[in-house]
Amino acid sequence: MSTDDLPSGYQQVDSSADPDALLEAMEVTAAWPATVDLRSWERDRLALAGGERLLDVGCGLGEAARALAVDLGATGEVLGLDTSTAMLARARTDWDVECPAHFALGDAMALGVPSGSFDAARAERVLQWLPDPRSALTELARVLRAGGRVSLIDTDWGSLRLDIGDEALTSAVQRTMAVERHRPSRVGRRLADLAEAAGFRDVETTQATQVWSDWDPDRSPAPDGCFSMRDLADDMVEAGELDAADLEGFVAAAQDAARNGRFTMSLTMHAVVGTR
Ligand SMILES: C[S@@+](CC[C@H](N)C(=O)[O-])C[C@H]1O[C@@H](n2cnc3c(N)ncnc32)[C@H](O)[C@@H]1O
Repeated sequence: MSTDDLPSGYQQVDSSADPDALLEAMEVTAAWPATVDLRSWERDRLALAGGERLLDVGCGLGEAARALAVDLGATGEVLGLDTSTAMLARARTDWDVECPAHFALGDAMALGVPSGSFDAARAERVLQWLPDPRSALTELARVLRAGGRVSLIDTDWGSLRLDIGDEALTSAVQRTMAVERHRPSRVGRRLADLAEAAGFRDVETTQATQVWSDWDPDRSPAPDGCFSMRDLADDMVEAGELDAADLEGFVAAAQDAARNGRFTMSLTMHAVVGTR
């Protein structure tokens, strides 16, 4: 699949229809309990020491690197790379810890930094936007020193389960999301395999499930930090799981269920750490 085949989204933030919305969604998703849990697990496993160098690939707003940088202290160093100037600008503005940081344009699949130059490297929710996640793992392995640690966090969108009291719709959503179209949307479940294939050892894994049960459709078209029910319906139509004529009915049914306290949606995210 070429990059041209990918739909717009986080692979081209700056030229997307609404970059501010993509930045705002990063703030919201950083507060998901599942994200908080996985970042906490990652921090324990990486056990960064004062003076070490951390690379954050696809760093976004840089808030995860900021929390880890507390462990690096004033003698440590962070490099955040991202393809979005808007993300990088916010990461620079928000940096408020003593550890020095540098944020620069960079591509996960061709990092452009010297081999063996980092003690730890992470990529969170980035692989799912890449045409070739394996090349990103090859690069992460290349830039780490021997004994360096890698951390990956990503989503398995195929795990999305929607319950609005209609089993047929639940199944149609599952079938829609089970198939990767346009991008590696299920890469979360493959993180350990990718890390091992890239030569990492002592690979440890965990997962966390994000649950939405208090979506207010009169306040927002989407559950917090997620895509809208209309976008989901569009996907279902594209996947042949919903007739175009039934699209509005699907959105209305999801909204009605939410208004009546019968809306539940869940999504599983995965995390992996390994040693170079
Ligand atoms: C969903 S966001 C995740 C941001 C951050 N890692 C986090 O978890 O909060 C995906 C990020 O990857 C960046 N990105 C997309 N394609 C990239 C690439 N080829 N190389 C580096 N960064 C990329 C986007 O600009 C965006 O900031």
